[in-house]
Amino acid sequence: MNLKGLILSGGTGTRLRPITHTSAKQLVPVANKPVLFYAIEALKNAGITDIGIIVGDTAAEIESAAGDGSRWGVRITYIPQEAPLGLAHAVLTAEEYLGEDSFVMYLGDNLLRDGIEGLVESFVKNEPDALILLQEVPNPEAYGVAECRGDTVVRLVEKPAEPKSNLALVGIYMFTPLIHQCAKEIKPSARGELEITDAIQRLIDEGKQVDAHVVHGWWKDTGKLEDMLEANRLILDALEGEIRGEVADSEIHGRVIVEEGARVSSCTIRGPVIIGKDAVVHDSYIGPYTSIDCEVEIRNSEIEHSIILAQSKVIDLRRRMEGSLIGRNVRILRLDHKPEAYRFMLGDNSWIGIV
Ligand code: TTP
Repeated sequence: MNLKGLILSGGTGTRLRPITHTSAKQLVPVANKPVLFYAIEALKNAGITDIGIIVGDTAAEIESAAGDGSRWGVRITYIPQEAPLGLAHAVLTAEEYLGEDSFVMYLGDNLLRDGIEGLVESFVKNEPDALILLQEVPNPEAYGVAECRGDTVVRLVEKPAEPKSNLALVGIYMFTPLIHQCAKEIKPSARGELEITDAIQRLIDEGKQVDAHVVHGWWKDTGKLEDMLEANRLILDALEGEIRGEVADSEIHGRVIVEEGARVSSCTIRGPVIIGKDAVVHDSYIGPYTSIDCEVEIRNSEIEHSIILAQSKVIDLRRRMEGSLIGRNVRILRLDHKPEAYRFMLGDNSWIGIV
């Protein structure tokens, strides 16, 4: 069976504004690596080397980040979607690229700890018409929910008011080409999208075999700030420390990565932490679960459980920063001239919490 990969990297990313006003949410780095790259690696590790990426308004940025895929030894084809009209619409948009091949569909903002190698093997071996991944969640009403009989899915409902199970759909699916016809037959949902759950339900209604696999390792959809920070925590938790940059007069505790060209001086760093290439961190405390991207400058400040993107500066903060996502090229500075007042220049949908 020839298997292709289809990564969905279009969408609007409203829940991650203002970051998504200027860049794609799939490129926000988790432990200093764009979320999208984890998806490409997961497909590659499962032996999939032909990968289509659905792109929307942020196409140019996604293409320049991932390129032709040769860096991972895969071939990437970009497939523009006219508008984010739903996951099943994305499948239809890719129909020509996918042809008669079966495929793994991977939401480009999802992270799955244990990869998909075993699942792809079982899909190829058992040859169901589709295989979906599920995870037990405490709040199934917020997800697509599956009802199963053994390992067979009997019903799927998108965000049910009264869920019949606590099994939520994980953003990774395996399909045979039968899904195209089903995606053509469904109508847009109340939110105006062609829902993949409706297309899969159609497969079930036609008597096709839809297998379910419950994943036990962690799974994260990074579409919201809290989930992005949580994904960062989970990925950092699994990294080994390594000092490749310069560290002077500093205390380093636990697993800390200091990338090449980074300079850390007069600091306390309590891992897990990653400090990216050419970053400068001076006279500061960096606490657990913090990712500092390349060329960031931090002086006389305390930061914990946060993600700071490339080329930003945090200087002379009086209180500790935590639970924060700071975009690229942001400046947080203390001003030393009168009047002594807050001064903000914030994009649409930004927010700040002060103490
Ligand atoms: P979502 O997170 O469901 O949608 P979104 O990106 O529009 O975000 P928000 O709800 O915050 O506005 O999408 C899941 C993934 O699928 C994400 O990587 C974007 C991608 N996607 C597409 O490529 N095309 C689409 O039509 C949709 C709906 C999503």
